[in-house]
Amino acid sequence: MLRNGSRQDQGPGPAAEALRLVKVTKTYGSADSAVTALDGVTLGLGRGTFTAVMGPSGSGKSTLLQCAAGLDRPDSGIVRVDGTELTGGGEAELTKFRRGRIGFVFQQYNLLETLTVAQNTVLPLKLAGRRVDRRRVREVLTAVGLGDRLGHRPDQLSGGQRQRVAIARALVTEPRVIFADEPTGALDTRSARDVLRLLREAVREHGRTVVMVTHDPVAASYADSVLFLADGRLAGRMDGPTADAVAERLAHLGDDVPAGV
Ligand SMILES: Nc1ncnc2c1ncn2[C@@H]1O[C@H](COP(=O)(O)OP(=O)(O)OP(=O)(O)O)[C@@H](O)[C@H]1O
Ligand SMILES: [Mg+2]
Repeated sequence: MLRNGSRQDQGPGPAAEALRLVKVTKTYGSADSAVTALDGVTLGLGRGTFTAVMGPSGSGKSTLLQCAAGLDRPDSGIVRVDGTELTGGGEAELTKFRRGRIGFVFQQYNLLETLTVAQNTVLPLKLAGRRVDRRRVREVLTAVGLGDRLGHRPDQLSGGQRQRVAIARALVTEPRVIFADEPTGALDTRSARDVLRLLREAVREHGRTVVMVTHDPVAASYADSVLFLADGRLAGRMDGPTADAVAERLAHLGDDVPAGV
């Protein structure tokens, strides 16, 4: 069973936490070919916050997101989303929880080419066996600027428009936490800005929690704070990031930065 943590074992400020990782470790491969992607990551993120995750290629950012979102399982440690522990439960339960509470946005959109914009958007509701409210679907797509594209297919859309469908799809279930792995990585500057504004709006206006991996200091500056990863470990945190300050910190990542997060 997925456990709803009791007050005592949640640590300080449990009610306000959307995500908690405790000593999360993940290794790929075995024996001499083993790669430690996450090496004892502990962190907590408040509800209604927008956090960027940055670090060099291979530092474990995607692995962190996959484990936090319940798409992958850590080897050890605890992952708690919105007060519920994902680690330790069965697969079916995990899937059910994920469909109800978590949204995910990928770099390459992951839309189904044979479905329309509206059909792609409602897919998570259908998979969760939830009622599809047509007005709500139109509302979500209008909010991402695609209210006039409901019947179009992905191949009739630009990259920025596709990613906005993916965001609508992530928002339609009204998830508590949205994870986005380089959501602007394949987009031009203007489309990237649209996507970042939508994510920020999900936080500011709808109280959702967003965790976004990015390589771009400008994208990171849309977040409330930035977590830096290096070699599968937290290597620092910056609140109120500016693009310049983030770029500066990235340049020195791996220098002797204290891991006090
Ligand atoms: N399925 C896998 N099998 C084996 N090794 C993996 C697998 N997925 C990730 N790794 C390894 O784990 C480490 C962390 O990978 P991860 O994808 O989390 O990095 P990342 O920070 O997201 O990198 P990038 O910025 O390039 O996307 C890397 O060394 C990678 O090679
Ligand atoms: Mg990655």
